Amino acid sequence: MLLLLAGATAAWAAWTLVRFIRADADLTLLAKRAPPPGAWQGKVVWIVGASQGLGEALARYWAAGGTRLVLSSRSLEKLQAVKEVCCQYVPEDHVVLLPVDLVGNSDALEEAAEAAFAAFEGAGVDYLVHNAGASQHAAVEDTSTDVAAALLRLNLQGPLALARAALPLMVQQRRGQHVVVASMSAVVPSPAQAAYAAAKSGLRGYFASLSSELSDRNVGATVCCPGPLATGLDGKTRIVYGSSGLISQPNTGMSKKKVSAERCAELIARAAYHRLDECWIANHPVLLLGYLMQYAPWLGMLVLKKVGPARARALRAGKSGYDISALMQDQGGDS
Ligand SMILES: NC(=O)c1ccc[n+]([C@@H]2O[C@H](COP(=O)([O-])OP(=O)(O)OC[C@H]3O[C@@H](n4cnc5c(N)ncnc54)[C@H](OP(=O)(O)O)[C@@H]3O)[C@@H](O)[C@H]2O)c1
Repeated sequence: MLLLLAGATAAWAAWTLVRFIRADADLTLLAKRAPPPGAWQGKVVWIVGASQGLGEALARYWAAGGTRLVLSSRSLEKLQAVKEVCCQYVPEDHVVLLPVDLVGNSDALEEAAEAAFAAFEGAGVDYLVHNAGASQHAAVEDTSTDVAAALLRLNLQGPLALARAALPLMVQQRRGQHVVVASMSAVVPSPAQAAYAAAKSGLRGYFASLSSELSDRNVGATVCCPGPLATGLDGKTRIVYGSSGLISQPNTGMSKKKVSAERCAELIARAAYHRLDECWIANHPVLLLGYLMQYAPWLGMLVLKKVGPARARALRAGKSGYDISALMQDQGGDS
């Protein structure tokens, strides 16, 4: 009997190890079933930051599922192009465009929330996707306080203000799930992205707290933490915070190590469907570092202190900061 138990345990451990080695997301998320056909019919999803990159992939995913969409970002022209893609799957009246500037004043955000919840005659909004944001490519010592404040305004204060604007409407309709696109930098310390990591960690804390506070009113949040994504390969420029403000991000390649925007969109939707509190979407080694930081933070920090200075140097030189083997071989010195 004992031998049988030991055999079963060894088989389970081996199976879990294989799953982990092949994983591109945390094992809790990967254990969940993909939403069944028809799961999204009749739902309304409001995506803020829908005009390109991951936001566009999310819009396409939900449109293919028959969802009604409200698409927001600052550029109506870019949203129009995304709507055309969505209308390959759904009728034109299933997609409403609603320009929003996340760093605009709070009255404008309240008006936008009213408009989004009223977009489909009494249907409200089932999922509010906080996807707008901009990453960072600058070491702490090169980043002025003003640049860090502007980054925090877009990546942290913006989603908080939007969530606050939508809250009375969600409570009134007695349902609503925030789908928050944070980052693995909220889990794994990110050299050359310190202010960005602070913003995304702030989202993680805020929306987990909101979820706990409003669970009796059927309002919750799924905080999604993607690692490096292969966005920007479609020729659309990604804007990130450099040392002196917003800059175009060079395409650093390494797309094989990055999760595709389409796969990330599918996994985010799966996490939202199951109302998971949090999910991680990343290939190794970022996924492994996430587990290390969660279960053996001292070991995670040991690795990150080894690669951190090299990663900051690589990003300063406009190279990829994700080639861990190259970073481990880095001998130091500024480039
Ligand atoms: N790419 C990655 O490797 C990666 C990894 C982890 C997490 N993420 C997160 O995933 C999200 C999307 O990333 P991405 O790579 O797809 O970025 P992206 O291609 O640069 O797209 C950013 C989106 O945010 C919108 N946006 C920017 N500023 C805005 C503002 N003030 N108000 C409203 N909308 C605004 C942009 O639209 P407009 O210009 O039209 O306003 C665009 O739709 C971000 O939150 C990012 O932090 C990305």
